[in-house]
Amino acid sequence: MNIHSLLVSRFKQALADMQVPEAAAPVTRSARPEFGDYQFNGAMGLAKTLKQKPRDIAQQIEEKVQLDDVASKLEIAGPGFINIHLSDTWLANQCELILHDPRMGVAAQPQQNVVVDYSSPNLAKEMHVGHLRTTIIGDAVVKVLEFLGHKVIRQNHMGDWGTQFGMLLAHLSDKLEDQVAETALSDLEDFYREAKIRFDNEKGFADRAREYVVKLQSGDEKCITLWKQFIDISITHSEEVYDKLNVSLTRADIMGESAYNHDLANVVADLKEKGIAVEDQGAQVVFIPELADKEGNPAVYIVQKSGGGYLYSTTDLAAMRYRSGKLNADRTLILTDARQALHFKQTEIVGRKAGYIRPEQSYEHCPFGMMLGSDGRPFKTRTGGTVKLVELLDEAVQRAGKLIAERSDDLTPLELSEVGQKVGIGAVKYADLSKNRTTDYIFNWDTMLSFEGNTAPYLQYAYTRVKSIFRKAGIEPSALIGEIKLEQPQEHTLAVLLMQFEEVIGVVAKEATPHVLCTYLYDLASAFMSFYEACPILKDNVDDATRSSRLALAALVASTLQQGLTLLGIETLERM
Ligand code: ARG
Repeated sequence: MNIHSLLVSRFKQALADMQVPEAAAPVTRSARPEFGDYQFNGAMGLAKTLKQKPRDIAQQIEEKVQLDDVASKLEIAGPGFINIHLSDTWLANQCELILHDPRMGVAAQPQQNVVVDYSSPNLAKEMHVGHLRTTIIGDAVVKVLEFLGHKVIRQNHMGDWGTQFGMLLAHLSDKLEDQVAETALSDLEDFYREAKIRFDNEKGFADRAREYVVKLQSGDEKCITLWKQFIDISITHSEEVYDKLNVSLTRADIMGESAYNHDLANVVADLKEKGIAVEDQGAQVVFIPELADKEGNPAVYIVQKSGGGYLYSTTDLAAMRYRSGKLNADRTLILTDARQALHFKQTEIVGRKAGYIRPEQSYEHCPFGMMLGSDGRPFKTRTGGTVKLVELLDEAVQRAGKLIAERSDDLTPLELSEVGQKVGIGAVKYADLSKNRTTDYIFNWDTMLSFEGNTAPYLQYAYTRVKSIFRKAGIEPSALIGEIKLEQPQEHTLAVLLMQFEEVIGVVAKEATPHVLCTYLYDLASAFMSFYEACPILKDNVDDATRSSRLALAALVASTLQQGLTLLGIETLERM
């Protein structure tokens, strides 16, 4: 059930009956309970066309609109809003319909092919906090899209190619004389540092590194073998992180930069042939007048360097052509930090000019802000180094384990370790997911691990509370007959929220904004707590019908929380 779409369609019908079928039908959720559950705001915008007062227009719309089944009351307010109070009978019926539905009434959307490019770490180094947001947000978006019936093609566009690999391979080839690759590369950060020191200081090393790049790019067999060893181990490091994070990426999703190497010359040749790329000081560039600076100089987008080398941009054009052509993507979503926004804007303009993407296919860069330390500066270790993801996640589990041990005294050591794991990882993921992705956010252990507020532990705990009601009642949710009646305002609020799940995940899928789902789940859990306080379930004086109805609402809360958290990649627990 998508209440929003339902209301919009009813108002559209009313507007058509009033001979203004083209008019917008804006419906929003009401900000305060006095204003009902939803609000229609379209009357004001029609004043000019209809040459009438907005309130009079609202009056006519209110008379025309067919909402008898859905609403208990419509009222005109302020300059011409129509406040919609949803009917308790209708809401109760809707809740009954979805009580035993594993999809909770959420309909599949018309299927699209959606390519999601996320995580995409650079393999020259170990995954660090900079890759956390893209990995977590991307994985949540992917899960929501799949739940809504889309065909999602994950693309892990790993940075496994380019000049820095020359340096790393030169260093690796020396090390292999007395070590196996696994040991030499056991710590990628150290390895990178060593190589860099040699590159900067050792005579002849930089030249060898450059030779390696050339050999690698031209497919030299020995060089490729060495490179494969390197990236193989580096991929294993990322997999360790994926595993700890419980994200859905696998090796099959890897389509790194190297996969486009064979196509880069074709892209440049094609752009030249179409007159889109031109030579400028020995390089091949595209001038983009749409993105001119203040003086009117067009932006310059380089696709081949003067020495013949290709760039990040060339690879992204090849990737775009592959995704919209071979993978037939209706949408391509790319999750990287906001600093790459200009790059993707330019890539889209150039790619569209070249016809690498058809007009109806969308190309959406989904930028996000940075993760900051408590000092408001980029998140670093105490000594100023980059924070390795593996270490960060281990710390989360350890901190959560300690907290849980202090709080609960009836868990076995085995349960404790499972809870610590799920709460710790959940907290890190949720802290990230719950922030509007476009803003920077401050990483803070205490807030993310708090059992109060919009956090994973709060939601996980709320879920266990609902489950414990069923344990105490000695009833399985699946055994509920499911007659629901809504009598108290808290029951009404809860039912409206339950009905909004589909609407919410629709927004997440459209805008790649998991925080919308987080806010919703937090509101739902809080509404449940108020409901449970005001509407007793297990007390002796509660009659059977009321108890059964309230249990049905609680069961819906539990399954919605569980489904919502699962979509966010956060595990639930039965007890904690
Ligand atoms: N490897 C890049 C980085 O770490 C991200 C790649 C994103 N995807 C892309 N198609 N460019 O910044």
